[in-house]
Amino acid sequence: MTTPVVRSAPEAKGEYRDMLLRLMTRQFYAETATAEVFGRSIGCAPTLREKLMAASFAEEEAEHSQRLCNLFMDLGLDPEQIHSARPSAAKFWSLDLDNWVHIAVFNFTVDRAGSHQIMEYRDSSYRPWAEQMTPVLEDEEGHYGNGVQNLREFAQDKKKFDEFQSIYFGMLPVTVKRAFGRPVGEDNDYCVKTGLKRHTTEQVLNRYLTEMLGYMRPVGLKFPKLAAFEKEGAELMASTREIILSNQ
Ligand SMILES: [Fe+2]
Ligand SMILES: [Fe+2]
Repeated sequence: MTTPVVRSAPEAKGEYRDMLLRLMTRQFYAETATAEVFGRSIGCAPTLREKLMAASFAEEEAEHSQRLCNLFMDLGLDPEQIHSARPSAAKFWSLDLDNWVHIAVFNFTVDRAGSHQIMEYRDSSYRPWAEQMTPVLEDEEGHYGNGVQNLREFAQDKKKFDEFQSIYFGMLPVTVKRAFGRPVGEDNDYCVKTGLKRHTTEQVLNRYLTEMLGYMRPVGLKFPKLAAFEKEGAELMASTREIILSNQ
């Protein structure tokens, strides 16, 4: 089946526009909340190098947020109004913003989950949005590079690594639920059918976890137990459970 191509804001109508706005709002919440996380982390970063990096990541996330603001304005919406409905960054991600280990786990876990969604939006049938996402993903590669480096540094110290592992156990289920949402359902089907996204949530989530696993295995970081996902209310497909169970 051929999916539509929507080349401008006035062409986005009805149900398609509603779903587009839901997805863009989710990204906008993530970009703006992440800008705040990195901005705040300048204070708790342990070294000058990390502080400067946090400052530059905050600036990049602000730039990503601005791109979304422009897209909302093209669609006739006020970004301030959309932003005002967002929960606080700490609440949104269940994060302690003044704890460096939380920030390090966030960088490895949460920020990358967003990137996997943006990979979908880069190929979206809503072209004005898709066209904005290539430079965003280039920045995100840098953020993940730093996340992986953080993980490797923590892995060199048993006590610090145990702390990283324990925070990761809590943060991954929250991320799976917040960043990916339900793996099946009409909304999912609609997004794929209209080309707003190119893969199902199950496929995107599995791609994210499999990529992560490649960095976890060498340092011995484990996935949380399935019960932790259940407790968080994160629904998992059989294929996803299999990936998680492969590294306990
Ligand atoms: Fe971003
Ligand atoms: Fe990022």
